Amino acid sequence: MAPMTRNRALPSLAPGPQAPVYYAQRASAGLIITEATQVSDSAAGYVFTPGIYSAEQIAGWRAVTDAVHAAGGRIVVQLWHTGRISHPVMRPDGSQPVSASPVAAEGQVITYDGPKPFPTPRALTIPEIHAIVEDFAQAARNAMTAGFDGIEIHAANGYLIDQFLRDGANHREDAYGGSIERRARFLLDVVDATAAAIGADRVGVRISPTSPFNSMSERDPTTLTRYVAEQLDARQVMYLHVLEMAPGDDAAAVRPLTATAREVFTGVLITNAGFTADAAEAVLARGDADLVAFGVPFLTTPDFVERTQAGLAPNAPDRGTFYGGDTRGYIDYPFRDGRVKASLDELLGAGALA
Ligand SMILES: Cc1cc2nc3c(=O)[nH]c(=O)nc-3n(C[C@H](O)[C@H](O)[C@H](O)COP(=O)(O)O)c2cc1C
Repeated sequence: MAPMTRNRALPSLAPGPQAPVYYAQRASAGLIITEATQVSDSAAGYVFTPGIYSAEQIAGWRAVTDAVHAAGGRIVVQLWHTGRISHPVMRPDGSQPVSASPVAAEGQVITYDGPKPFPTPRALTIPEIHAIVEDFAQAARNAMTAGFDGIEIHAANGYLIDQFLRDGANHREDAYGGSIERRARFLLDVVDATAAAIGADRVGVRISPTSPFNSMSERDPTTLTRYVAEQLDARQVMYLHVLEMAPGDDAAAVRPLTATAREVFTGVLITNAGFTADAAEAVLARGDADLVAFGVPFLTTPDFVERTQAGLAPNAPDRGTFYGGDTRGYIDYPFRDGRVKASLDELLGAGALA
């Protein structure tokens, strides 16, 4: 199950009371990757996205991992810092958002005070970069306390690590900018620090080298992908997760950057975006990747695995309830028999977590 932000955390940014049900409903996914989760109180860019830096947040996540494990699943937490995809009103001290370079994204950010244009961020100093690396390491330790099976470092979709990786957003001329090696350094620092904290076999990484989302661009995504994949291979991380759309309408077509990663990355490779079950089977049979992540099919269909095995279609998406709101569109999508199982007792049996 691909990571999906649902904007239903509590005002304290601890996972909401329905989060254990939502994730336990989907425990038959081979591996659940959670919604993106802040490593610190200055990492947020969206409303009601969870963190994993306070005791309350860690306890909230513990309830999620206990429920998923009781239902027989596995779960890792996706860790992010949003960088320039934020706003002063989203930051605890009201300060300017930070990034690799003072380059604003285009568009608007939805804050607690309504939509506002993305501000121009401030370039991080090197000591500040080191402090954020340590925030990731502490979040990884907290993830272990919360009972997660591992972490996924969010280096995709134009958030802080990606803002360092790709040259459209990184104009630095110091040790963290310029060449591909230097732009990848922040990611690799985070990988090394989290691996030292919890073991490389519990650290996965997600990249999206060609996604234009959040005003991102890169002149040479192939060389960037090859370098990052080589470096992660040397570090023997848990997996590399490449988000890359198929080049045309055929979801089973070869995805060129995923193929580049496969050439040099010998560990577990996950591919994602726009897959149908049939396209995923074709890609796995060819050996293009080891695992396929599904997003929307799991959002709408808690028993997506069982339905696919039975040749049944997933539920239709209700896009208006993807981001934020209440239990609707969150824990009320039906299972294949038409039933909604919206409590842990129904999912696990009465008293399973007592
Ligand atoms: C509601 C929603 C929220 C998402 N949030 C995240 C996120 O927090 N982190 C992330 O890396 N990708 C996020 N994505 C992207 C998904 O992980 C995935 O790449 C995308 O849905 C394409 O896969 P699919 O075609 O199987 O849905 C989100 C997608 C959706 C639909």
